[in-house]
Amino acid sequence: MSEQERILQLRADLHRHNHNYYVLNQPSISDQEFDALLRELADLESRHPELNDPNSPTQRVGSDLAGDFETVRHQRPMLSLANTYNKQEVTEFYERVRDALGGEPFEICCELKFDGLSIALHYEHGALVRALTRGDGEQGDDVTSAVRTIRTVPLLLQQGAGWPDSFEIRGEVLMPWASFEALNRDREAREEPLFANPRNAASGTLKSKNTAVVAERHLDAYLYYLLGDTLPADGHYENLQEAKRWGFKVSDAMRKVQSLQEIFDFIDYWDVERRNLPVATDGIVLKVNSLRQQRTLGMTAKSPRWAIAYKFQAERQSTILREVTFQVGRTGAVTPVANMDPVQLSGTIVRRATLHNADFMTALDLHVGDHVLVEKGGEIIPKIVCVDPDFADAPRGERITFIQRCPECGAELVRYEDEAAWYCPNETGCPPQIRGRIEHFVSRRAMGIDAIGPETIDDYVSRGLIHNYADLYQITADQINGQWGTRERSAQKIVAAIAASREVPFERVLFALGIRFVGETTAKTLARAFHDIDALARATLNDLLAVNSIGLVIAESVMRWFRDADNALLIERLRAYGLQMSLSEEALSAQSERLAGLSIVISGVFVHHSRDEYKALIEQNGGKNVGSISKKTSFILAGENMGPAKREKAEKLGIPLVTEDEFLQRLNPTSND
Ligand code: IVH
Repeated sequence: MSEQERILQLRADLHRHNHNYYVLNQPSISDQEFDALLRELADLESRHPELNDPNSPTQRVGSDLAGDFETVRHQRPMLSLANTYNKQEVTEFYERVRDALGGEPFEICCELKFDGLSIALHYEHGALVRALTRGDGEQGDDVTSAVRTIRTVPLLLQQGAGWPDSFEIRGEVLMPWASFEALNRDREAREEPLFANPRNAASGTLKSKNTAVVAERHLDAYLYYLLGDTLPADGHYENLQEAKRWGFKVSDAMRKVQSLQEIFDFIDYWDVERRNLPVATDGIVLKVNSLRQQRTLGMTAKSPRWAIAYKFQAERQSTILREVTFQVGRTGAVTPVANMDPVQLSGTIVRRATLHNADFMTALDLHVGDHVLVEKGGEIIPKIVCVDPDFADAPRGERITFIQRCPECGAELVRYEDEAAWYCPNETGCPPQIRGRIEHFVSRRAMGIDAIGPETIDDYVSRGLIHNYADLYQITADQINGQWGTRERSAQKIVAAIAASREVPFERVLFALGIRFVGETTAKTLARAFHDIDALARATLNDLLAVNSIGLVIAESVMRWFRDADNALLIERLRAYGLQMSLSEEALSAQSERLAGLSIVISGVFVHHSRDEYKALIEQNGGKNVGSISKKTSFILAGENMGPAKREKAEKLGIPLVTEDEFLQRLNPTSND
């Protein structure tokens, strides 16, 4: 067999194994075997670029290239469904359909309403050619390369299964609960904001410009609507069963019924059983099954008359509020938490609910001993909706007010302008803040010391081994070896990892210090503007404000941080341990102000450098890399294959396009390359 033939065979085999594993849940080979075949294929493909195929199984891992989405008009508008919230409204829908069909018998297909984001997939000759988001219903974003990474979406359909040459199938992209929880745990450890629910997480993921990120987040897709000029059957249900045979993931929770009672049974069953599903659902969808009858019923401007959604009630329970406690987070933000009598809610026992912040808490007007209504909706964290009106006349306990002093260290709380939260300002003496700062210091984007996680830090702090991040550099392997379950090898690994962080460049050290409002980008800006820590520490308010994109809030925070004697001592210690306290020669010589004040959009695919490298180049030269084109964009760094929608927008706004070579010339006018 030639290499070319082997490529084709491997692709066919891998598509089949993939379907068996992800869609049918019946693996036909081991993970190792699968990986070995995939590696073999990737290897062969790299030697045969002429056989490049966007639907090859190797494309499922994504790439960090790709990028901005093109907006594409839907062939058929993506309508939404009218919502109903009770059985009376369902009955009315049923009767409307019955009357409009003039007494003709009809069937209703009952399905789950998946709570993700809707997607339209187009197939030509059995291959996925395009995936669009719903967008505004008329036009959506082309997210084909992101969708290719979703393992349950077939890139090629099962051979010989009799699919039409051209069709569209719609469904929902979802992040399963398990992936969602893992993702949030990960984000928490990295101090990144958490996703409120799997829908937001799925949507954020699919829109990520980096499809490698999409690939690793394990999205899933359920398909529920087949469209096309030639479809296998007149029944919606029958068409979906057919689509299942072509390779699509179609939910098993579908029933064809012929009476209102059966609809209610379906609703009641899934209202409870949905708690055991791997993905989020927020209701039931009812569809008239016959496509002919669907055409008879037609549409209103926004939604079809042949379908309706029934939304599940978020479950609410009444319970008694016992007290409100206050939690101090890593940044010093204080969050009020309601402690209640335990109550069973959507399958879990709830005792606590977040009250978010002082304003939210005050608006609820809570008193000790109040009966409150607790709800668990699409969000995972239960919330107090209101004081239970059934107990409006009950005598009330003491009114709950927000605290004025930190419950952890006693410092007087402060509120910063434009922020909802109250903060404990005792950054260096308040225990959760101490732990939080060290966790931030070691985190991946800061000093990148992954050998120690939050639990180890908690341990070291509570046992008095360290009090701040400078103490990390004094830890010896002997001190931690055999302690708290640390074996010798990992003790040495930890010490080595800490030592290695001395090479981390200055701008990341600056970010790692944990100066309030100094995030990654601001740290870079400051490093570029002041070059070393001493110059930054000496900077006056005016010096700081003179730097592009540094405003009063950041400037004051930086001043405050460096004025603090404890912080000055930290810096001296870190310097003595050998951390980078100034920009490297290399970084210094690479930088200029040639792009100062310019907002630059990067679009397309490049030859000389990666997108990330161009982003770094823009920043090193004082420019700002922005995501989307607007009036304020100075120019577009345009590579190959820039999307037509972007091109059109740039043209309309009169924003110049600069090629890769022109751009490099501009940064380095003397060089000839
Ligand atoms: S059918 C014209 N079926 O709910 C009918 N939609 O507002 C098209 N959804 O945008 C939709 N599960 O994202 C249909 N089994 C299901 C669904 C479903 C979830 C979503 C879909 C749509 C929204 C309706």
